[in-house]
Amino acid sequence: MYFYSQVVCVSVFGFFLQISEVESMRTLKNVAVKRGGSVTIPCIHEEKYKANKKFWCKGNFWSTCSIVAYANSSGNPSVIDHAEYNLLTVELNSVSESGRRWCAVEIGDRWQPDDRDYLYLTVSKDPDLSVRESRVRGEEGGSVTVQCLYSAAYQNKQKQWCRFKDGQCNIVRTETSQNSAVYISDDGRRSFRVKMSRLKKSDAGWYWCSAGDLQVPVHISVGVDASESQRCSVSQTTEGHDLADIENIRSWNVGHSLSEIFLYKQDSQ
Ligand SMILES: *[C@@H]1O[C@H](CO)[C@@H](O)[C@H](O)[C@H]1NC(C)=O
Repeated sequence: MYFYSQVVCVSVFGFFLQISEVESMRTLKNVAVKRGGSVTIPCIHEEKYKANKKFWCKGNFWSTCSIVAYANSSGNPSVIDHAEYNLLTVELNSVSESGRRWCAVEIGDRWQPDDRDYLYLTVSKDPDLSVRESRVRGEEGGSVTVQCLYSAAYQNKQKQWCRFKDGQCNIVRTETSQNSAVYISDDGRRSFRVKMSRLKKSDAGWYWCSAGDLQVPVHISVGVDASESQRCSVSQTTEGHDLADIENIRSWNVGHSLSEIFLYKQDSQ
């Protein structure tokens, strides 16, 4: 009886150990890269690991992978810990070797393994999937277009456009598809285009194109349309002022940044 309860105890304990091993780190699965080319890999993790050390590891097995670089230390690849977004980015240059890579958070506790996830780099001279530009910039309220190129071998594979943060995807069909502000069109031969319009600040971040099992990351940044804001702040400032004030603001605008214009608006009230 005593023996039995010990067995039960051990297996229950083991069960909890299993649960505590659920990893929060998440990255892409299989990234296509041109031999000798560059790619930036995003990895995200739970908020609670914000302050932990992060690293990039290379090798087929976690237990034997070799640490290539720690975050925010000089080195190649350059691994950056964007702590405010629980995001890690790994910039790989002159990529030459296919294989498994790991994004990891150092836990430093012998009972709890490091939090990690792996991806596969598929390096080839002519990748089956690529993007025309991997960093695209748009303005708030404006639009951006990303072009994803696929090989003849991937012509009949499923194409997707996904957001990294939540893993939400838009499936690309051969005919065009419309989904709120995301418009995707596949030429059915070698490329599909993703147009994101009515951009909001919150649309900024990491995305990926996929075709079949391959992925390519794309970063989208959203800036403020300077001319819009200036016009806006000027019209707000002009309320209740005479023409002389408007002249004043116009000349002040030239060569000054947005924050200075807002400061002036507050001063004048
Ligand atoms: C790492 O470096 C980046 C860029 O230099 C910086 O923005 C970030 O705050 C740093 N992260 C940490 C955890 O120090």
